[in-house]
Amino acid sequence: MSAPLPTLNLVGAGRVGKTLGRLWQQAGVLQIQDVLTTSTASAQAAVDFIGAGRAVATPAQMRPADLWLLAVPDRQIAASAQTLAALGLPPALAFHASGALAAAELAPLQARGWHCASAHCILSFADPATAQQQFHGTVCALEGDTAATQQLKPLLTDLGAQCFALASEHKLLYHAAAVWATNFLPVLQAKAEALWQRSGLPAELLPGLRERLLHNAVDNLLALGPAAALTGPAARGDTALVERQGQAITALDAEAGAAYAALSAMAARLARDRQL
Ligand SMILES: NC(=O)c1ccc[n+]([C@@H]2O[C@H](COP(=O)([O-])OP(=O)(O)OC[C@H]3O[C@@H](n4cnc5c(N)ncnc54)[C@H](OP(=O)(O)O)[C@@H]3O)[C@@H](O)[C@H]2O)c1
Repeated sequence: MSAPLPTLNLVGAGRVGKTLGRLWQQAGVLQIQDVLTTSTASAQAAVDFIGAGRAVATPAQMRPADLWLLAVPDRQIAASAQTLAALGLPPALAFHASGALAAAELAPLQARGWHCASAHCILSFADPATAQQQFHGTVCALEGDTAATQQLKPLLTDLGAQCFALASEHKLLYHAAAVWATNFLPVLQAKAEALWQRSGLPAELLPGLRERLLHNAVDNLLALGPAAALTGPAARGDTALVERQGQAITALDAEAGAAYAALSAMAARLARDRQL
């Protein structure tokens, strides 16, 4: 007879909690036990998506578990840890999924003898069903006490994650880098599309233009790397045009004009560096 699977309770089951819960359920490495969110309706929806677990309405209804994932928004992690600690449950392993915050957010649990960590997977979990398909190969930063990170590593590796150890003091910079790499892309695209529409480009051409340019940019980046893939007026050293375009944007939107100037300066530097 095989040993029972370690149990996992979820406090928060939105995009990340649902995705990881379902992946662990399907991999058969953890037993999803109790699921707490802000309402029994959303907790039940998460249980339905994961395909296992029990929706609960209050923290007090949660049973002891081997692992606890606090997949609540960053600003709720410390308060959730405090609530959990006040329940006086037997010490277990608690972890959160924030990229920027450290395991120290779980201090009230640590003080009661729990092992604590953070496990941040570098993926845009925009939609759990899609993220589940995209997860294999995701790079995952583990930070926290050694016993906790050592226990989490194989559980994430079983899902196809590539784990590495991240020092607590580097979490802010590390996460800011992920913001550069992924979160700014939709912002840049939205701004470009607003400017195109303002300049008279027919709206019906936008979806196709978006698709072609993004594929083109990603293909070049993957084939050549960032420096060699860089094109445009700043990269060509056409400072007069950069200046005039910056002014045209600033006349419409001062914030976007300032961002254009800052990014153009960085583009020019990247182009200069590749010539060295
Ligand atoms: N989304 C990403 O791409 C991504 C990537 C890597 C890491 N992360 C990290 O993952 C964590 C969760 O992010 P997310 O995107 O999954 O957030 P999310 O989709 O907004 O889900 C948050 C979940 O927490 C629940 N919740 C909120 N306050 C609660 C409370 N006080 N008690 C219990 N449950 C509570 C919400 O309940 P309802 O369902 O009822 O609203 C929801 O289920 C964050 O630390 C974030 O930084 C996110």
